[in-house]
Amino acid sequence: MEGLPRDREEAVRADAEDPLAPYRSLFHFVEGAPIYLDGNSLGRQPRQTAGAMEALLGQWRGELVGGWDHWMELPTLAGDRVGQLVGAKPGQVVVSDSTTVNLYKLAAAAVEARPGRDIILGDANDFPTVRYVLQGLAARTGYRLRLLATDPVEGPGTKEIARELADDVALVCLSAVNYRSGAILDLRAVTEAAHQAGALVLFDLSHAAGAVPVDLDGSGADLAVGCGYKYLNGGPGAPAWLYVRADLQPSLRQPIWGWFGQEDQFGMGPVYNPVHGIGRFLTGTPDVVGITAVNAGIEPLLAASLPALWAKTRRLVGLLGSRSEELLVRSYEGFGS
Ligand SMILES: Cc1ncc(COP(=O)(O)O)c(C=O)c1O
Repeated sequence: MEGLPRDREEAVRADAEDPLAPYRSLFHFVEGAPIYLDGNSLGRQPRQTAGAMEALLGQWRGELVGGWDHWMELPTLAGDRVGQLVGAKPGQVVVSDSTTVNLYKLAAAAVEARPGRDIILGDANDFPTVRYVLQGLAARTGYRLRLLATDPVEGPGTKEIARELADDVALVCLSAVNYRSGAILDLRAVTEAAHQAGALVLFDLSHAAGAVPVDLDGSGADLAVGCGYKYLNGGPGAPAWLYVRADLQPSLRQPIWGWFGQEDQFGMGPVYNPVHGIGRFLTGTPDVVGITAVNAGIEPLLAASLPALWAKTRRLVGLLGSRSEELLVRSYEGFGS
């Protein structure tokens, strides 16, 4: 990669000139702690999170159940903000439940929307919860799960996926970024291939959202889910999010019929009749505490902008790669002499 710092002095200078440097102070750091490379598991705590939680506690303290006036729309308001990170226009994302539960909700809705087809296509090396959800769905519904024997590092390639696509495939469900290696799937190409075969696509963006620029609307993707506690910095066990393309929403029915997806919710009517729009993918009472933390967690990402963060990620990873290579070669040469 061009223009990488060649030594420590140049690296320190690049840090000093880095326009993203001030954003570091938006997070808590423990002085002297080792460099943290586990944001793919649990993101750092933004400084703003404590204030957002304190404000929520104040609403609860002061307004008790009346606080729901502030909280009812939170899943969709926070969802729209997550949407900004993944290229989704408003009205297509909600923050709710866990990634696992959202995967199940959307995968079940998708296969039901493709009657006459009985194959679900996945990746044999995908993150376990993705495979297990698909296995469980197949076991309950009689669908057949076909797992691509992919390279665990490279991840599935578009051609490999396209070869498996035929008129019996209902759903293609894959991770957008490989959880082991970071390999990036071409969302647009996979979506085009799946759509040509008449299948729907569901992408797990847990390792993509907040880390790499994603254009869900531009890719034509049907469905997506992702974690709230990794790069979105929502804290341990934070709720996840889900995306359903706007034009697809009216034709999809998710399997968990809860009262938060119900039209005229407080009419307490006898029959489930889901709301129009993304709200129909909600289930029960939203995790207001968790969504508040996700909402605060994504603030630094929105402020810094994903393209700028991605450019820096590439430089840092490039630097790490070239320095490691140099050191390995040097120690190998030393070993040989
Ligand atoms: C691709 C992927 N999906 C889902 C999850 C986790 O799902 P949940 O938050 O439901 O445990 C992870 C966790 O690392 C993951 O890597």
